[in-house]
Amino acid sequence: MSDPVRIDFVALGPLSAQTPFQPAAKRGKNKAPLTLVLLAGQDLVFGDATRKLIGAEGEAFLKKAAAAGKFKGKTSSVLEVIAPSGFSADRLLIVGVGPVKDDKAKDDKAKTEKDKTKDASAAKHVCTPESAASWSEYTHLGGLILSKLGTGAVALVAFDPPRPPEDQAAAAADLLLGMRLRDYRFDLYKTKKKDSEDSGATDIYIAVDEPSAARREAKLREAVSDGVLTARSLVNEPANVLYPEEFAKRAQALEKLGVEITILDEPAMQNLGMGALLGVGQGSVRESRVVIMRWRGTGAKGKDNAKTKPIAFVGKGVCFDTGGISIKGAAGMEDMKGDMAGAACVVGLMQALAARKAKVDAIGAIGLVENMPGSEAQRPGDIVKSMSGQTIEVINTDAEGRLVLADVLWYVQDKYKPKFMIDLATLTGAILVALGQEYAGLFSNSDDLCEKLTHVGQETGEKLWRMPLASAYDKMIDSKFADMKNTGGRHGGSITAAQFLQRFVNDTPWAHLDIAGTGMNSPSNDINQSWGSGWGVRLLDRLVAEYYEG
Ligand code: BES
Ligand code: MN
Ligand code: ZN
Repeated sequence: MSDPVRIDFVALGPLSAQTPFQPAAKRGKNKAPLTLVLLAGQDLVFGDATRKLIGAEGEAFLKKAAAAGKFKGKTSSVLEVIAPSGFSADRLLIVGVGPVKDDKAKDDKAKTEKDKTKDASAAKHVCTPESAASWSEYTHLGGLILSKLGTGAVALVAFDPPRPPEDQAAAAADLLLGMRLRDYRFDLYKTKKKDSEDSGATDIYIAVDEPSAARREAKLREAVSDGVLTARSLVNEPANVLYPEEFAKRAQALEKLGVEITILDEPAMQNLGMGALLGVGQGSVRESRVVIMRWRGTGAKGKDNAKTKPIAFVGKGVCFDTGGISIKGAAGMEDMKGDMAGAACVVGLMQALAARKAKVDAIGAIGLVENMPGSEAQRPGDIVKSMSGQTIEVINTDAEGRLVLADVLWYVQDKYKPKFMIDLATLTGAILVALGQEYAGLFSNSDDLCEKLTHVGQETGEKLWRMPLASAYDKMIDSKFADMKNTGGRHGGSITAAQFLQRFVNDTPWAHLDIAGTGMNSPSNDINQSWGSGWGVRLLDRLVAEYYEG
């Protein structure tokens, strides 16, 4: 694999474009040319520090180059020029960051939003639309910059947006986050190196007012990006490598971050009466597992302490979904190695929370199975008994995710009595029909949880769209022979799946995120080029940071 990019912060003030850039010069062996990255607003407005850095002559040169290259500083547009003589850099990269002056109407709106948020007692974190936008704005900018640098580059980024961010250190850390996310490649199984990978490591120096403050913030972002990358790799791994036991082993690695791990094997699940989950796994030679991860960041050691209810995240971990006896068609079936994206997100999230020592008591629970056909597999028409005591008629063995989640959701609410549960699952193809790959489906019995989730969705760009739950849909899964059946027909497929899950949450505040469209097979963008996107880690890390810490 190629080396990951190295990123550090340096002080912006003392820099000048003419003096050789020290840290790069020190790296004598690395003879790569130096790229100076500058940010320009619409109509080529530069920040004050940038103007000082490049001087009047440099600015005049860039104006000319921009005019010749028809570059106007529009968001995400980039102009590349050879540096003029006198500059210590070899090449200049001017990156557009768009309009500099907000119109007044926008300002006013921001103000009223701010007041509204202050009034809402639930929201302790004040977040204006502007700061909301900047969350993903600088992250995407970081990804864009990294993509333009190319491998083996040495670059100095003058982080001086013409419209200064509210918190420069935090914004610069977001920039770093975007670079790390963009830098990820899953090339574990490529045995031949590409030519471009021989060009050495990429070194990036982000110049800011206070490097130490930026470094502090960056440590937190690194915890989050590492969590996202863990989730991506789990999704990208093939199912012959990542079967339930191996997945459990990888989750167990979080012990070194201080996460408590409990693994339930098949006899343990049998004792608990998890007939729904076990039924899905019974056709596979691979054994099923449930993994419980607990991060106690509040120092609360006493078990069953009513005052400190944990929060809980639950993930669908179908390591491969053939459909079982109701077998899927061949076309695209290889994608079903990603049917554990929910579980991958929960592991990545727990890693992020532990690595940044989040002040929260959080549980991550994942149900790991392989859904295979075979002489031992469950049949359509079989009736299984879930841990809750409710019986389920299995109409279609391909509607397996809800059977797995039924037992894990029940177990978590029963044993831990959490403040809320959020489950993530690549649950239905129908959510792709409804929402495509832009939004994940959000189903919930709690308006409060929905509001918070939708808010952090806007902030992180991992967007959610609320879908309905209602008793009329619930009737669609009543069964002739058992308490319920596992499919509700073609209509409203994502909703009847969510109704099914709701029967196992026992009135615990709960949200279900259907991530079949967002967790895998992801379209490429500035911050993600990977098939498995690691979707949800940033979203839920933000949810915890804004509402449930301290
Ligand atoms: N894992 C699939 C859902 C899925 C589809 C995820 C496409 C990602 C991309 C799930 O287990 C499934 O097979 N669902 C069925 C349910 C149906 C049988 C009621 C579906 O969506 O067709
Ligand atoms: Mn399925
Ligand atoms: Zn599935």
